[in-house]
Amino acid sequence: MEVKTKSLLDNMIGVGDMVLLEPLSEESFIENLRKRFDHNEIYTYIGSVVISVNPYKSMLIYTPERVEEYRNRNFYELSPHIYALADEAYRSLRDQDKDQCILITGESGAGKTEASKLVMSYVAAVCGKGQEVNKVKEQLLQSNPVLEAFGNAKTVRNDNSSRFGKYMDIEFDFKGDPLGGVISNYLLEKSRVVKQPRGERNFHIFYQLLSGASDDTLKKLKLDRDFSKYNYLSLDSAVVNGLDDATNFRTVRNAMQIVGFMEDEVQSVLELVAAVLKLGNIEFKPESRCNGTDESRVKDKNDLKEMCELLGIEQSVLERAFSYRTVEAKMEKVSTTLNVAQAYYARDALAKNLYSRLFSWIVNRINESIKAQAKTRHKVMGVLDIYGFEIFEDNSFEQFIINYCNEKLQQIFIELTLREEQEEYVREGIEWTNIEYFNNAIICDLIENHQNGILAMLDEECLRPGTVTDETFLDKLNMICAEHQHFESRLSKNSKFLNDHSLPHCCFRIQHYAGKVLYRVEGFVDKNNDLLYRDLSQAMYKANHTLIKHLFPEGNPAKVNLKRPPTAGFQFKASVGTLMRNLQTKNPNYIRCIKPNDKKAPHIFTESLVCHQVRYLGLMENVRVRRAGYAFRQAYEPCLERYKMLCKRTWPHWRGPAREGVEMLMADLQVPAEEFSYGRSKIFIRNPRTLFFLEERRRQCLQDLATLIQKIYRGWKCRTHFLLLKKSQIVVAAWYRRYAQQKKYEKIKSATTVVQSYTRGWQARKLLRELKHQKRCEEAVTTIAAYWHGTQARMELRRLKQEVRNKHAVTVIWAYWQGTKARRELRRLKEEAKRKHAVAVIWAYWKGLKVRREYRKFFRANAGKKIYDFTIQRIMQKYFLGLKRTLPSMSPVDKNWPARPYVFLDGVHTELRRIFHLWRCKKYKSKFTEEKKAVYEEKLEASELFKDKKSLYPSSVSQPFKGDYLEISKNPKYQKLNSSFDEKVLLADVVNKINRANGKGTTRILLLTKKNVVLADQKTGQVKASVPLPDLTSVSVSTQNDGFFALRLKEGSASAVKGDFLLSSEHLIETITKLHHIGSTASDREQLNVDISDEFLVQFKQDKVCVKFIQVAPKNGNSVSCKRKNNRLLEVTVPASA
Ligand SMILES: Nc1ncnc2c1ncn2[C@@H]1O[C@H](COP(=O)(O)OP(=O)(O)O)[C@@H](O)[C@H]1O
Ligand SMILES: [Mg+2]
Repeated sequence: MEVKTKSLLDNMIGVGDMVLLEPLSEESFIENLRKRFDHNEIYTYIGSVVISVNPYKSMLIYTPERVEEYRNRNFYELSPHIYALADEAYRSLRDQDKDQCILITGESGAGKTEASKLVMSYVAAVCGKGQEVNKVKEQLLQSNPVLEAFGNAKTVRNDNSSRFGKYMDIEFDFKGDPLGGVISNYLLEKSRVVKQPRGERNFHIFYQLLSGASDDTLKKLKLDRDFSKYNYLSLDSAVVNGLDDATNFRTVRNAMQIVGFMEDEVQSVLELVAAVLKLGNIEFKPESRCNGTDESRVKDKNDLKEMCELLGIEQSVLERAFSYRTVEAKMEKVSTTLNVAQAYYARDALAKNLYSRLFSWIVNRINESIKAQAKTRHKVMGVLDIYGFEIFEDNSFEQFIINYCNEKLQQIFIELTLREEQEEYVREGIEWTNIEYFNNAIICDLIENHQNGILAMLDEECLRPGTVTDETFLDKLNMICAEHQHFESRLSKNSKFLNDHSLPHCCFRIQHYAGKVLYRVEGFVDKNNDLLYRDLSQAMYKANHTLIKHLFPEGNPAKVNLKRPPTAGFQFKASVGTLMRNLQTKNPNYIRCIKPNDKKAPHIFTESLVCHQVRYLGLMENVRVRRAGYAFRQAYEPCLERYKMLCKRTWPHWRGPAREGVEMLMADLQVPAEEFSYGRSKIFIRNPRTLFFLEERRRQCLQDLATLIQKIYRGWKCRTHFLLLKKSQIVVAAWYRRYAQQKKYEKIKSATTVVQSYTRGWQARKLLRELKHQKRCEEAVTTIAAYWHGTQARMELRRLKQEVRNKHAVTVIWAYWQGTKARRELRRLKEEAKRKHAVAVIWAYWKGLKVRREYRKFFRANAGKKIYDFTIQRIMQKYFLGLKRTLPSMSPVDKNWPARPYVFLDGVHTELRRIFHLWRCKKYKSKFTEEKKAVYEEKLEASELFKDKKSLYPSSVSQPFKGDYLEISKNPKYQKLNSSFDEKVLLADVVNKINRANGKGTTRILLLTKKNVVLADQKTGQVKASVPLPDLTSVSVSTQNDGFFALRLKEGSASAVKGDFLLSSEHLIETITKLHHIGSTASDREQLNVDISDEFLVQFKQDKVCVKFIQVAPKNGNSVSCKRKNNRLLEVTVPASA
């Protein structure tokens, strides 16, 4: 491997490590910095501490190639770079399992935030890759733009000044892959929300939102793009060179999305930002009250209204909260009015709280997204980027807090680098002359002492009952701290400063480690109290906006807590305490940022400014301690473990004590004695070069060892492989031989089997042949025998048959002869019988004649008549009794009658039949009721009208005439229709009314009463036509099997205007019969004519139209159809009845 030539020591521009500076003085120190700065070398080491001078221009030293160059290299190997520090920290985290922290300090604008980002991006670039890891990295990196948008602002010192402290723990797994992180934020400078010093801006997000958001978004947020519309935005520096707010807005939105903000969360955040802007525009005017006091009123309610709409707050609630204040004390509630000044104070307090709580929420939200999932122990790298030491013209509570924080960091630095280091030398028994340095613990104590520290007193003042003002606070300070060396005020008893007239009233001055700072007490009490009227927090809690509600939990009326919340100072002190304890558990890595000029300009190196920073950062002391001391130390065991391969005696195992092993090693390597010292438990190496030398030797040695290991391993591997091959060969050969013999044996075996099978086959065939021959011979003998026996049998059969035939012929001939004899005998017998009968008849006649002649004289003359009469009587009796038994049924239609038994009774029999029928009809008639009679009368009338005249008639005979088919009196649908007649409805039926124009049918209800024929709509029951019966002249029907009928109207009558009606009914016979019946019973008019003909004329309006019925062969769908053929003809086709 090629050894990198351009090492730290080869760097020609000044010296890369201040430890090597010769001669060492403040001038040479600053000169070295300047020289390097002029040559674009912005990083310089003091041992392992990196000094970074802000170049105020982009440098080409952060490329991916540079990352590769510094990756896995020794810290002192290459020229100084922040990457070297990041790499060192990352590797000792990954390989040595030591938690790290990167402490970045320096004034505002010195480049701390940039440095922290560089460290993070370096670590992101060199740590593991993979989809999940990349996502974590991306989220960690993208949290920066979001936090910067909400927490950074332009100040006079820095265009992108962090207005909050940030400490980020990045968590790694055992492989060094990032798992997530936790961000802690410290005290956002919220006063900036409502007021910015001249030349400074509010937080970036306000400007970014107004310049970058789409018109649509702005409209939704009820905002205007014009900055000048908002009181909270300072205008003189609204536009910053080199800062593109619109683009940054898009970056921020994108970053929020990557970090994991939901779309509705982003919207809520923007709504809150908009609400703060709106809040700033709410103004108040005084309104005099009768008791002489002024009460504030909102001047123009438009902004208030829009803000309330944005946050879903009821306007009246907020308005009231700006005019009144409820004070709760000891279960009492007192409402006091606010004057205009108080209202403004309340408004600003609300805006500040709203914004700072939003900011904290955002930090928490980011933490939720980036927190590590796995529960195993993580390695942690903390990056601290906290606001730098600040001295402004007007310094207030915020600067006080910020500077306090910086004091604490300086403490840590002193603790860990200066004191710790010196103490270690003493502990290890290394010869050491103490180096003086300023320990700022005394200043920390002045501020944070529990009893009489400034913060404690401020808290005391805030909690004290009675009138409390900033002045009373100052008085208290004057009383308690006056003796302190680092505290000054006009009234301080410290006579040293009594003559100092530069100290105004209402101020105190603290001599910080970084310089004197004059603090104005105005606002200290208020800011420490950080009070938000309860009415306002309650108003916020009532908002119909999830985020707002969440931000003001104390507004929940259910959780009224009369205890004061902890003061801002107290909270800050506590969180700084936690931070310090956290940092102390980690291995520190320092980046000390230096600001080369106050103009934020490149290439300018203001020596006085740098000198001041070098002094207060204690860098000179740092170098001195470093130079006097040793660059590197390590316990003997790990040292021996690391370098034991450099000496044959210690390699591979050293059995004795570790220290002796190390001594042996150093002696063997011939390292000059002044280059190192032996401590009690550690070896101290004075110069990085020595360490570098050791490392280089170790690297080479490791290469050699690797080669050796490789060689041995390869030899071993080849031999093992060979042995394996040999063993395998024997096995293979054995297996093969076995296989070959097996094959040979199998071949012989199969050949033998074949030969054997052939021989056996041949023998078998031979035997078969013989057996077959034998069998054939036996068969031949049997056949011959069978033939012979057969011939014998047939001969015998023939003989027997001949014999039988002869016998049969004899029998037949005999039978014929016998038959002929028998027939002859029969004929003879028959003739004889005939003769005998004739003789007997003749004999009987003759005998009768003889008897009659003989007995005639013995009979009386009338005896014959009597016998005759008796016989007749007897016959008649028998006849009647028989008739009685066989009488037919009583039904008048029964046609049966018993048959006539004697011809002479023919007349009687017919007469009796007639009488019986009449009698049975009478009996039948006597059983009839009046109604039934009417029905039959109607039927009779129908029969008279239609029988044999219309082919439809027979089918109607068996149908009872129901009359009201619609049940019109019961059906509620026709109630109205029914009630419109006085008379009884004789017939109600649905008919088809034939359209006169086209012959199509429409259903209608036909009603018949004594006086009228009515046609009504079937659905509505509305009467369509009502014809008085006298207007009806005749009805025409066809002779066929159809239901068509025409109602012909009297010419000139009122009903005849439209012409005659052509209708079709399923109950035609009944309808016409009823019509006819009414006509025949009415006395006032002539009887209705019923014309039955297949062609008749009807009057349709003016026209006379012929309706013609044509019979057709029945097709499928046996229906009657009606068609208007022309002006004069309407044709009805009727299928012939089957
Ligand atoms: N390494 C650097 N390279 C280029 N410019 C830098 C670098 N460090 C700081 N700057 C410039 O200085 C400005 C202030 O730096 P920043 O880190 O925000 O200061 P701080 O956080 O200390 O207040 C940055 O906006 C940037 O323009
Ligand atoms: Mg910063």
